[in-house]
Amino acid sequence: MHMRLLVTGGAGYIGSVVSARLIADGHDVVVLDDLSTGHADAVPAGARLVRGDLRSEAGRVLAGGVDAVLHFAARSLVAESVQRPDLYWSSNLGGTLALLDAMNAAGVNRIVFSSTAAVYGEPDAVPITETAPARPTSPYGASKVAVDTALAEYARMHGIGAVSLRYFNVAGAQPDPPGGWLGERHATETHLIPNILAVALRGSGQVSIFGADYPTRDGTCIRDYIHVSDLAAAHVLALAACTAGQHKVYNLGSGSGFSNREVLAACQEVTGRPIAFRIAPRRPGDPAVLVASSERIAADLGWRPRRGLREMTADAWAFTCARAGA
Ligand code: UFG
Repeated sequence: MHMRLLVTGGAGYIGSVVSARLIADGHDVVVLDDLSTGHADAVPAGARLVRGDLRSEAGRVLAGGVDAVLHFAARSLVAESVQRPDLYWSSNLGGTLALLDAMNAAGVNRIVFSSTAAVYGEPDAVPITETAPARPTSPYGASKVAVDTALAEYARMHGIGAVSLRYFNVAGAQPDPPGGWLGERHATETHLIPNILAVALRGSGQVSIFGADYPTRDGTCIRDYIHVSDLAAAHVLALAACTAGQHKVYNLGSGSGFSNREVLAACQEVTGRPIAFRIAPRRPGDPAVLVASSERIAADLGWRPRRGLREMTADAWAFTCARAGA
């Protein structure tokens, strides 16, 4: 069924890939993004970009006629959130509350929300299920828990249908025909795969691996990686699963993880280049192992990841080379 969709944060990494998928599926997409961390040229052709803040512009965009909202706009750097929690509460929680009120006023009652593995903090057991306690260890994670709580409340009080997707480690890139790529490009890059590939591209320097004394198979942290195109497919299913009066929560991961050394090895293989690294001190706040149980979304919506680590690193490398004109 054709829909008119508002994608907040559609100029960012994940929002742009999901927007492209929604357009390919035949929907009308309006992107609302303040371009504080996103890029106007990442908004896929076929989407209309409105530049602005959720708090001032959401009502105006929704009044134009929207069937459902996919909400990506947020600040998402864990370390920054520790330095500036005020930014995270005002953008992530304040922005979302303004969006929800604007949705109520406009009679829009479906929303898919980008939640995160960071809501769980240091887990008692892996794989992590959705029933694990929310014990975030950063203002970033706490702000996402607060939004999940607000969504449950808006579903109960106002009858909206909401789905929170809790992403684990998103990676990879997606072709953007003709000849382009949509991928990860942050002014401040903190994520492992882009940092490794930046060293491969430069052919000099070294990547820091934060900690080699964790209680894992090779001493480095283990994370559950999911291809951004698989993530986009989950959003399409979540949109169809929005049910009035209900707030549903799903983890998105693969059920198994790769260590930082294994990710480095995969990047070396895919790029065909040696990549120098050094073992650096642990990064504060990093849990040793984060692996998702995605059984709930597999059972309810039939979603399963299709692309593995090799495809993620290969696509991220293709994107990195395309950006560099290499
Ligand atoms: N790492 C390095 N070197 C780097 C970058 C990262 O060794 O240059 C390590 C980290 O210490 C960690 C692993 O690589 O062990 C993965 O780190 P990322 O920064 O790529 O991803 P995180 O697991 O820290 O972050 C992800 C999401 C966040 C979310 C968080 C929850 O990207 O949005 O999980 O813990 F908040």
